[in-house]
Amino acid sequence: MAKIQKIKGVADLFPEESARYAFMEQAAREVFTSYGYGELRIPILEKTELFCRSIGEETDVVQKEMYTFPDRKDRSLTMRPEATAGIVRAYVENKIHQPGKVSKYFTYGPMFRYERPQAGRMRQFHQIDAEIFGAAEPQADAEVLLMLSAFLGRIGLKKLSFELNSLGCPECRPKYNQALKDFLNSLDRSELCEDCQRRMDTNPLRVLDCKSKNCKALTQNAPTLPDHLCGECREHFDTVIALISEAGLEYTLNPRLVRGLDYYQRTAFEVTSGDIGAQTAVAGGGRYDGLVESLGGPKQVPAIGFACGMERLALLLDGTFEAENDFYVALADERAAQNALLFAEKLRNNGQKGEAAFSAKSMKAHLRYANKINARRCFIFGADEFENGTVTVKDMAEGGEQTTMPFDEYFK
Ligand code: HAM
Repeated sequence: MAKIQKIKGVADLFPEESARYAFMEQAAREVFTSYGYGELRIPILEKTELFCRSIGEETDVVQKEMYTFPDRKDRSLTMRPEATAGIVRAYVENKIHQPGKVSKYFTYGPMFRYERPQAGRMRQFHQIDAEIFGAAEPQADAEVLLMLSAFLGRIGLKKLSFELNSLGCPECRPKYNQALKDFLNSLDRSELCEDCQRRMDTNPLRVLDCKSKNCKALTQNAPTLPDHLCGECREHFDTVIALISEAGLEYTLNPRLVRGLDYYQRTAFEVTSGDIGAQTAVAGGGRYDGLVESLGGPKQVPAIGFACGMERLALLLDGTFEAENDFYVALADERAAQNALLFAEKLRNNGQKGEAAFSAKSMKAHLRYANKINARRCFIFGADEFENGTVTVKDMAEGGEQTTMPFDEYFK
């Protein structure tokens, strides 16, 4: 029979690889709960409209990358391309908001985008995501950035660059958009790529995000957002910068950073690494003060958050993620099979972690396997042990000792 293969852009994560993901999830849980965040699990499937309305019709994600299909009753559903929209939907639907109340959530899991797969870019990928609602203060922005940095530090990643920008608010962004449009109109339109020719009219900010070298060069002298911020946005951004500087977080200001999703206002940021090939962004996020309202929630609920790409972080993690074990039970005589099995059960009941051999093999093969699973001790059940009611304990450290003792005595 023909083999069935996985579809393009998805991966099977076997134990050594999935251990990296479990390690990141555990670190995220520890760090985020230390900031008062609680875990929120949201559905993978949502109504398509949720993403169109939040991420923005003009974004690449909505235009080209969503896994969208009709369900059996012909309703349009989409596999979530990111977590923020679903979290906002849950926040609104469950009426979490109360004036003055701050709510903090994190989640992690698979996301789906129909992109061209390459190292660090998958169609099913995984994010760790954190969001905070009800805090407009720049301290919230600073704390979110510091928490992200604390998480990245916890998993051993210290050489990453933080890039920051402010995208303004509904007050100042339209004025900037106009200035940008005027600039773009002064160019020879036909020199821009097809996407940018369209974006010029629909969402000029996106032109700054174009990956084409030619578009980048043409817009090199375009007016920048930070030069057009209103007084309040300027002050907000300056305070965020002052707070994180004071806290010792290193960053660079990138006036062209616009992010790939449309819901952002004010602070926007990306964390990048030069060590993982073409896909350099390992995390991204920002403030999205208007999104709760535009998804039918109460007016003026400020919010900010970020998501990390786990595939890209996994590429950067140092060291091996092999399991460590307390014991291995080696069976050298079939007659001792029952003793060996029951002995291993007892060890586990005593809080130890390890494996027992199911069949008798040469001691050489057993010891090779005990080393492979990083067992600290090997318990040997052979012919002598069976006949004398003993077990031989071998310390697996180099030059480790070997002792034989009565089987029952070990647990006394
Ligand atoms: P994003 O920048 O679209 O933001 O994605 C965040 C991170 O997810 C990226 O920096 C990247 O590491 C990873 N990522 C995105 N697409 C892929 C892919 N195809 N394969 C592998 N990794 C990928 C968001 O998703 C926002 N929801 C972040 C946010 C949360 N903003 C506010 N709150």
